Amino acid sequence: MSVTQQTTSTKSTASETLTGPLLVVLAVVVVAGLLFGYDQGVISGALDGIKQQFMLSAILVEVVTSWVTLGALVGSLAGGWLADHYGRRRAVLIAGALFVVGALLQATAPDVPLLVFGRLVVGFGVGVAAVAAPLYGSELAPAAHRGRFVAAYQLAITIGIFLAYLVNAGLAADGDWRWMLGISLVPGVLLVLVGALGVESPRWLVKMGRRDEARAVLGKVWPEEDNAARLKAIEHTLDEEAGKASWREVFDPAWRKPLMIALGLAIFQQITGINAIIYYANQIFAAAGFSTAAQQTTATTWAVGGVNVAATFIAIAFIDKLGRRPLLLAGLIGMGLALLVVGFAFLSIDGQLAGNGPRTAGIVTLVALVVFIVSFAFSLGPVVWTVINEIFPGKVRGRAVAVATAVNWGSAFLVSQFFLTLIDAIGKSTTFWLFAFFCAAGWIWVYRTVPETRGRTLEDIERSWTGQPASVSV
Ligand code: BGC
Repeated sequence: MSVTQQTTSTKSTASETLTGPLLVVLAVVVVAGLLFGYDQGVISGALDGIKQQFMLSAILVEVVTSWVTLGALVGSLAGGWLADHYGRRRAVLIAGALFVVGALLQATAPDVPLLVFGRLVVGFGVGVAAVAAPLYGSELAPAAHRGRFVAAYQLAITIGIFLAYLVNAGLAADGDWRWMLGISLVPGVLLVLVGALGVESPRWLVKMGRRDEARAVLGKVWPEEDNAARLKAIEHTLDEEAGKASWREVFDPAWRKPLMIALGLAIFQQITGINAIIYYANQIFAAAGFSTAAQQTTATTWAVGGVNVAATFIAIAFIDKLGRRPLLLAGLIGMGLALLVVGFAFLSIDGQLAGNGPRTAGIVTLVALVVFIVSFAFSLGPVVWTVINEIFPGKVRGRAVAVATAVNWGSAFLVSQFFLTLIDAIGKSTTFWLFAFFCAAGWIWVYRTVPETRGRTLEDIERSWTGQPASVSV
């Protein structure tokens, strides 16, 4: 009997059941996303208190802010190796432990070097988690739910950012930066706990030659079913990839297409401006005429943080129904148009007297930014992570996802580092139009390059790169 025949019988049930162990996997993905988001959003609120306490120079302010990104860049590369070497679940546990240590170091740091070291450790944890958790989720989720699993990760990132904005607003009056940074200890401990309860990815176990353990895990995840066919399907694909993956193989010409797709998505997600807005929302609202700190914080917390969370539900509802491509293409149109409008609004704001609260243009900017965030949240936010985690062959998946994640962090670092410089050099309007231009370029590139992966098994997708017929269901 062919693999195709053997596996079709398990398809309908396997695609629908979300058993207890799968819910634990989902919990791991969600907690990892919460941590990622919290650590991304918290620094904007903590910085003022830190500056006051340690009298930081401008350079040290940048170091304290950006070394998390630096740690994440290195951590994501290490995360790929850890996930391939020690398993997806253990890599998640290591990330959780790093968060706990990093949060403690930051919250209790007596001086700047230790604080920076804590930032680096947390960043390293963010990087490892950003690779290991979605990988873990996408390898264990049944094909019909895979998009939703990874979209849940994105939802958790947005909730993390939103929570950080709320905590910042709540603690801002006392400038209590130690609590702001220390709170990420809680989800760190939670990640270790849920990670300890989880099963290992059967795909990784088979890859390591631990077939019996893989069978046992499949039995736990789908106790009601005959998992022999499922195990065969995984083995069948991995058999074709004899030998161990090396970093060199990630760049093998055979996988050039998925690599280009992943890197392109990772870069377009950032150069279209999301983190310029996440990090600098307060300043943007200030420039648009929201004159008091309270007005700016409220606009940022709700129009950026809250809307980002709410609109991610659109992706969760539609990513496995409509597919990845329609969401990406629609989202890029919304983002591009919104950025064009923000550019025009600033043209009119800058033409008016500064400090006079240019009302109409300010409101137009607010509405356009909401449209931008909504469009990002149902498209590039979740879909990029979903596609990056599903298009690589099992053999190189861990390391290839790591490379794409590191490139994503690198692009995020560049955009957030140079956004203010760019505004100084070419002005606000042109900067937003540049982001809009990247949306247009991204649209054309996605239209021509990114395949639809909705409802297809990882094995199917893998075979499509090598031109073999698509057939295996898991
Ligand atoms: C991106 C982050 C971004 C977040 C905003 C994620 O998908 O990778 O860079 O801050 O979305 O929700």
